[in-house]
Amino acid sequence: MMIKEMLPAHVKQVKVLLDTCFGESAWTMDALCSQLEKLDSRCTVAIEDDTVIGFLAFEQVVDEGSIVEVAVHPDCRRRGIASSLITSAINSADGLHSVFLEVRESNTPAIKLYESLGFERIAVRKGYYDRPKEDAVIMNLSFSVCNEPNL
Ligand SMILES: CC(C)(COP(=O)(O)OP(=O)(O)OC[C@H]1O[C@@H](n2cnc3c(N)ncnc32)[C@H](O)[C@@H]1OP(=O)(O)O)[C@@H](O)C(=O)NCCC(=O)NCCS
Repeated sequence: MMIKEMLPAHVKQVKVLLDTCFGESAWTMDALCSQLEKLDSRCTVAIEDDTVIGFLAFEQVVDEGSIVEVAVHPDCRRRGIASSLITSAINSADGLHSVFLEVRESNTPAIKLYESLGFERIAVRKGYYDRPKEDAVIMNLSFSVCNEPNL
């Protein structure tokens, strides 16, 4: 498995991966392409045997990062792929002080993943998600020393 910068050539495979992982609530092709082109965004993919098996969208504004989306193919889970995508994005970002994310309250695998990386629950945003309506848990990872996340 290799982690690489996402290129336009990966878009179709990433879209299939997102459809597999998120079903009806997956990003549209337009949303995916906008994320790839966004200035503050960095999208990475996990590739194995020429196939995209993982995807991460990470954004950074000044010293604050955010995990916008992360997904790993169901057949490839619990192999540390999401952890590798997240740690590699954080470790290659410049001047980060903290990283935030939102996650559905019922998404136990994702919450466990983030907790395993040191993220802590800091707030709940009531009714944040639609289809189905659900609260979001806001999580944060802060670094005591800028640029040294120690993940
Ligand atoms: C959440 C998701 C990205 C995790 O990907 P992954 O590659 O399987 O995660 P990792 O293998 O890096 O897991 C690291 C740790 O997270 C925790 N974890 C991950 N999945 C878990 C699960 N299903 N149940 C409990 N703990 C879990 C474990 O502590 C795991 O370490 P371990 O396997 O040594 O016990 C994946 O399940 C997924 O794509 N889900 C659908 C999309 C989604 O919900 N994305 C998040 C949106 S906010």
